[in-house]
Amino acid sequence: MNKNRLVFIFFGPPGSGKGTQSDMLSEHLKLPAISTGELLRNEQRLKTKLGKEAARYMKKGELAPDKIVEALMDKRLTKRDMAKGFILDGYPRNKSQLDDLLRLLKDKYDIWLVEVRVKDKEVLNRLSGRRICLKCGASFHLVYKPSKKTGLCDVCASKLAIREDDKPAVVRGRLSRYKATAAPLLAYAKKNKKLISINGEQPITKVKKDIFAKIAKLVE
Ligand code: AP5
Repeated sequence: MNKNRLVFIFFGPPGSGKGTQSDMLSEHLKLPAISTGELLRNEQRLKTKLGKEAARYMKKGELAPDKIVEALMDKRLTKRDMAKGFILDGYPRNKSQLDDLLRLLKDKYDIWLVEVRVKDKEVLNRLSGRRICLKCGASFHLVYKPSKKTGLCDVCASKLAIREDDKPAVVRGRLSRYKATAAPLLAYAKKNKKLISINGEQPITKVKKDIFAKIAKLVE
């Protein structure tokens, strides 16, 4: 295993801030951040067959079938920008995806799991205020991360909208699904002493500070 080639896997309930924090860590470490949710939403924006199939599950808050996610990840993981390390957001998400990833990467990278802890009530509060860009996928929050112009994306000036799976009834299903599938990730991280656990119920900048502090020794 090469200690300099780091992989950080963000996991936590929906709306815990995985995407927000993995993007900031990506900028800080100059490593690519990959979100399987975003890869899947991009396939939907492009109206591909794979995107259409995944949409059937995603709008109900169910996990997309492993074969779809693995096809996307296999393609993404072979890109050259992955050589020095990378950040994963929302993958792996269950035991089968974890086993696949470890088979592929375990001997080549130093793998750390970053758990972002947030309670259910805060998840519902956050996701009711999230707005995403329908064109480029950039994410905002009405209160905690407002766009500069109300209702418009800072990146491409397109319209912002509520994510289809952010409706409260769907969020509740996503939360219970997360609880049912995340246990193997936590167990693996604890057993192998690879867990970085973060209190996600703090302001965005404080969560970022805590993450940067906890990984400082690994990246120096
Ligand atoms: P995905 O997009 O991964 O959704 P998720 O895991 O449910 O997570 P979210 O994107 O909802 O939230 P987040 O934790 O990234 O929080 P964010 O930073 O955006 O997956 C969507 C769907 O795709 C899944 O349900 C599934 O169907 C499918 N899928 C994806 N990966 C899959 C896989 N591996 N296998 C099978 N299916 C898969 O923040 C949320 C909001 O809160 C934002 O508005 C943000 O501005 C705000 N915010 C962030 N941090 C804070 C803070 N500290 N304080 C206040 N507000 C904050």
